[in-house]
Amino acid sequence: MATFSAPKGVPDYYPPDSVAFLAVREGLTRQARLAGYSHIELPIFEDTALFARGVGESTDVVSKEMYTFADRGDRSVTLRPEGTAGVMRAVIEHGLDRGQLPVKLSYGGPFFRYERPQAGRYRQLQQVGVEAIGVDDPALDAEVIAIADAGFRSLGLTGYRLELTSLGDDTCRPQYREMLREFLFALPLDDATRVRAEVNPLRVLDDKRPEVREMTADAPLMLNHLSDSTATHFASVRRHLDALGVAYVINPRMVRGLDYYTKTTFEFVHDGLGAQSGIGGGGRYDGLMAQLGGQSLSGIGFGLGVDRTLLALQAEGIAVGQPSRCEVFCVPLGEDAKVRMVTIAAALRGEGIRVDLAYGDRGLKGAMKAADRSGARVALMLGERDLATGRVGVKDLTTGEQREVAMVDVVDEVQNVLHD
Ligand code: HAM
Repeated sequence: MATFSAPKGVPDYYPPDSVAFLAVREGLTRQARLAGYSHIELPIFEDTALFARGVGESTDVVSKEMYTFADRGDRSVTLRPEGTAGVMRAVIEHGLDRGQLPVKLSYGGPFFRYERPQAGRYRQLQQVGVEAIGVDDPALDAEVIAIADAGFRSLGLTGYRLELTSLGDDTCRPQYREMLREFLFALPLDDATRVRAEVNPLRVLDDKRPEVREMTADAPLMLNHLSDSTATHFASVRRHLDALGVAYVINPRMVRGLDYYTKTTFEFVHDGLGAQSGIGGGGRYDGLMAQLGGQSLSGIGFGLGVDRTLLALQAEGIAVGQPSRCEVFCVPLGEDAKVRMVTIAAALRGEGIRVDLAYGDRGLKGAMKAADRSGARVALMLGERDLATGRVGVKDLTTGEQREVAMVDVVDEVQNVLHD
């Protein structure tokens, strides 16, 4: 019979390596907790218009990559391609912005983009993200960036760099875009690039083709045309990062795949990953909340790629996460012994001890082999004869030492061996 495969571009994380997945997600989230970000759990799908309006119609994410479908009530819904728009929707809907500001939220989970799958580029991707909403303070920009940096470092990563720029805001970007457009239209660009220059001229600066790079080498850069207030903001972000010891390089040609960014914008790039080198990115989005019908509040956040962080760890040869091994392995021999052993296992689990059992009646030899393979520290053995005497065999699997203990003492005895 034909078997099934996971959909194209959708990774599975299974044992033993799935512990690394959890360790990455927890490691990245922990830094946000330490800085006072509270968890928000959001829907996997939303109204399609939320992403069209929030992320931007001209982006690849919205125009080419969304998983959009009509539900049975004929509403157009979309599997979330990113987290920021959903967070803003929830903040506005539940009035979270009416309390103390900034609202600091963190989230994690799967996101969906219909991209061409390749190493490190998936159709279901996993992120850990934060959003800090309602205060336009450069110190908050630096906090958000430093959380991401601390998250990567806490996992042991070192082979990445933080790229930083400012994309300006309403007070300076429109003029700059015009200037850039004029510059680009004077170049002998091909038709497709010309269209891109019309829709979003900044994207042309990110073109990787050498001939386009060469032509745009002298293009005007946003960083050199910031208004006084955005320039001051950017200088302050840098000052805070310097004080925190967070290293960065300025990349004035950075182009993000989402349209909502203003001012501070950043990306974490890992050298060991080939083409899909962005392990995380984010920035300010000061106009987004108003655009989604909320008050005019600023915001800044990031999304860190869990899948790519795992690949980066592999590239650096770093193992994270403890295998979820049991501490105790129970070997019952016979039906009555099994019924009794199950209750002993439950009592041990009740004490927070990780316990597994030999299922499937494979005899003493086979069951002891399973106990050894399980990596447990202690094996418990119970036969029909032990049932009559009320005793259990307790074997320390590292020393080979074995003792018979009264059934009522078994939890204490196991704890003794484990804490030896
Ligand atoms: P983004 O740059 O689109 O930003 O995604 C963030 C991270 O998710 C990327 O740096 C990358 O590590 C990972 N990622 C994105 N697409 C894929 C993919 N197809 N396969 C594997 N990993 C991927 C955002 O999503 C923004 N919402 C971040 C943000 C939050 N900005 C402000 N607040």
